[in-house]
Amino acid sequence: MNDLTGVRILLGTSGSVAVYKAAEWARELVKEEAIVTTLMTAAAQQFVTPLTFAALTGNSVYSNMFSIDPDGVMAHINLSRENDVLLVAPATAQTISRLATGSAEDLLSAVVLAAKIPVVICPAMNTNMYTHPATQENLHKLIGFGYRIVKPDSGSLACGETGEGRLAGWDTVRELLLSLLTPQDLLGQKIVITAGPTQEPIDPARYITNRSSGKMGYALARVAQRRGAEVTLITGPVHLPPPPGITCVHILSAEDMENAVMDVADKATVIIKAAAVADYRPAEIHQQKMKKYKEHFSLELDKNNDILAELGKRKKDEQVLVGFAAESQNHDQEGRRKLREKNLDLIAVNDILGKTTGFDVDTNQVLLIDREDSTSLPLMSKENTASHILNKIVDLLNRKGMLATL
Ligand code: CTP
Repeated sequence: MNDLTGVRILLGTSGSVAVYKAAEWARELVKEEAIVTTLMTAAAQQFVTPLTFAALTGNSVYSNMFSIDPDGVMAHINLSRENDVLLVAPATAQTISRLATGSAEDLLSAVVLAAKIPVVICPAMNTNMYTHPATQENLHKLIGFGYRIVKPDSGSLACGETGEGRLAGWDTVRELLLSLLTPQDLLGQKIVITAGPTQEPIDPARYITNRSSGKMGYALARVAQRRGAEVTLITGPVHLPPPPGITCVHILSAEDMENAVMDVADKATVIIKAAAVADYRPAEIHQQKMKKYKEHFSLELDKNNDILAELGKRKKDEQVLVGFAAESQNHDQEGRRKLREKNLDLIAVNDILGKTTGFDVDTNQVLLIDREDSTSLPLMSKENTASHILNKIVDLLNRKGMLATL
């Protein structure tokens, strides 16, 4: 079970070479157990046949405006009634122009006109066509109709030119679809999240660091954004793609992280410190690579500032401060100590020794402790863990009266 399970997506394709990418998206959606029905314009069928979409989705492909469904309702009415989201991808300049004028001359435009469900439009075309004032004006009209437009990417285009016009990436579209299906209970909240490890340099070739994949912090950032929050992600070096639509600040050392956090902390309504900050840094950073002529060698370390404890000291009444605790023993006791000493509203305690809860895995099992009670969450995906942590944050925002005023 995942967030797209059972969601009915109507995929409307029009005539661009990018139709083959829409076929990949259909495959991705089906993998996530969404129910995909495709409709294709005549031009889309010049690039990819309906059979491809039928095979990938296991569903009929519609293209005929005047086909009658078994219950006697015309396809364009039924299709818009029976789905949760209408995704038009790729949307050509021609299709966008039709939609902007309210035309119903083919099945795709008729379905969009009849739709009462959320409509997401993903333009793909030559860059001059995309930037032409006519297309831009049409897109503004579509925004005015309440449709969501996913800006195309820039890059080399199939026509040989370079510029804006490439169909947006699947990750961006998937995040938008998920946000349309998720209650916006964090709308108006400014959430700062830290993730990943820090690196403390020894010399140009070496550093000390903590083990951390960044997966928990990145999951929190994605889920918070889906729920409507404006998210700033301050991240150490990790091997994860930047979550689309989120402001990412990339840092290396604990000192960099501290500066980046303090720059934005004042404006944040919620701060979540999921990063594995190095507690110590080398007392001296060697400008040249250190040579291995010594048989024994010890490194002198200085303590880094505790960023979370400093945030706790500066915390305002209208701010929720959340920490993580990476523990190998005495989870409850250590969690409570850190909650109290760092002046937190909530702490998520992780077991770093478990094979399914420690570093680099997609699952987690955390103990959530706040000032009033504690909850032990079962083992679940890091995204589901993120949802539970954010539910708790919504409770805390409510208790502080910070949701009512929005
Ligand atoms: N943290 C921080 N700055 C540091 C060290 C930790 O902001 N210099 C934050 C982490 O991001 C986390 C929380 O403090 O949210 C707890 O981190 P953890 O490593 O579990 O504990 P420490 O406070 O470092 O204490 P100890 O290492 O003694 O367990």
